[in-house]
Amino acid sequence: MALLDIKGVTRRFGEFTAVDNVSLSVEAGEFFTLLGPSGCGKTTLLRMIAGFDLPDAGSVLLDGEDLAHRPPEARPVRTVFQSYALFPHMTVEGNVAFPLQMAKVPPRDRPQRIAAALEDVRLTGYDKRFPHELSGGQKQRVAVARALVTHPAVLLLDEPLAALDAKLREELQIELINLQKEVGIAFVYVTHDQTEALALSHRIAVMNHGRVEQLDVPSRIYGFPNSRFVADFIGQCNLYSGQVVARDGTIVAIDVPSLGPVRVATRSEPALGSSGTIALRPEQIRIAAGAPADAPGNHYRGTVADLLYMGDVTVYKVETSGGSRIEALLANSQGGGAKFFEVGDQVEMSWPVDAGHFIAG
Ligand SMILES: Nc1ncnc2c1ncn2[C@@H]1O[C@H](COP(=O)(O)OP(=O)(O)OP(=O)(O)O)[C@@H](O)[C@H]1O
Ligand SMILES: [Mg+2]
Repeated sequence: MALLDIKGVTRRFGEFTAVDNVSLSVEAGEFFTLLGPSGCGKTTLLRMIAGFDLPDAGSVLLDGEDLAHRPPEARPVRTVFQSYALFPHMTVEGNVAFPLQMAKVPPRDRPQRIAAALEDVRLTGYDKRFPHELSGGQKQRVAVARALVTHPAVLLLDEPLAALDAKLREELQIELINLQKEVGIAFVYVTHDQTEALALSHRIAVMNHGRVEQLDVPSRIYGFPNSRFVADFIGQCNLYSGQVVARDGTIVAIDVPSLGPVRVATRSEPALGSSGTIALRPEQIRIAAGAPADAPGNHYRGTVADLLYMGDVTVYKVETSGGSRIEALLANSQGGGAKFFEVGDQVEMSWPVDAGHFIAG
């Protein structure tokens, strides 16, 4: 049995459906992420797990028990907010002690629990400081310690790193991964940042318009998106749509206007004449000055229209003679014979049939 079971949960605000019949389950010890664009219903769903809000339909179960009649403080669930929500007039110790007081943990047991929670987030020795004497990252750690100190079954984190700069965010991402492993508590993590979701999670639910579009492990979400939305939302992706014009075993050809037939391997069996989309990651495309020596499944010639040097990699936007745009990514670590292209250069792009991923519809 899953630890947390969300069954057909719906939440409406007037005519608007913010969370639309969502079902998913989170296992004990899992790092589970709700990922989606702003307004897709992530916070609303989290609030219903925490008990700050109630579903209009469906149920939230923990260890098989329906939580509908349990107020937030009676649920073994704690939340870390983006804004940290620390009490400004209380020290770090006071902040972390607060949930223990609420839970009526005997005073003699508190110091040890507080010390353990602060050690978990590497803040030993900071107990007498006030929030205004802490950095953003430290405040965030206090918020996590405060949430962990009562040993909840599930920790909810709503964009906890969104307010921090990129470098610190990366540091805290690694800390969160380690912390979650150490404490073994299930995390339900909310973010709209796809790289963060891919880096942190055991599984990801990609949400759009209040629904779960895809639920899977990060590598499958990235490599096998099941819709145009997921493909586009998770990192850069070339998306080519058209009609299925040929099928030969597991390989289908899609006639993409402005590009011509594109071949892709798929286990699904789309009917001839049906429509489909090929999702192709920029790093799967080979880009070279000369024609490829082998016979790749797909081969196009084009002109570099734009390039974006990003240090470790360069993204090339190449225009084909038919007017199609193909985005290709080249690692700049490819030393030796690597040739770096300029805007206006003629290039050859190729990719094997198993590089792209076919999405029906
Ligand atoms: N109390 C409310 N009353 C009316 N509409 C609401 C209420 N709370 C949320 N909404 C609407 O529900 C939708 C989902 O909101 P929610 O806060 O869950 O989005 P989100 O995915 O967390 O977005 P973000 O990434 O911006 O935080 C939004 O369109 C929002 O305006
Ligand atoms: Mg939100």
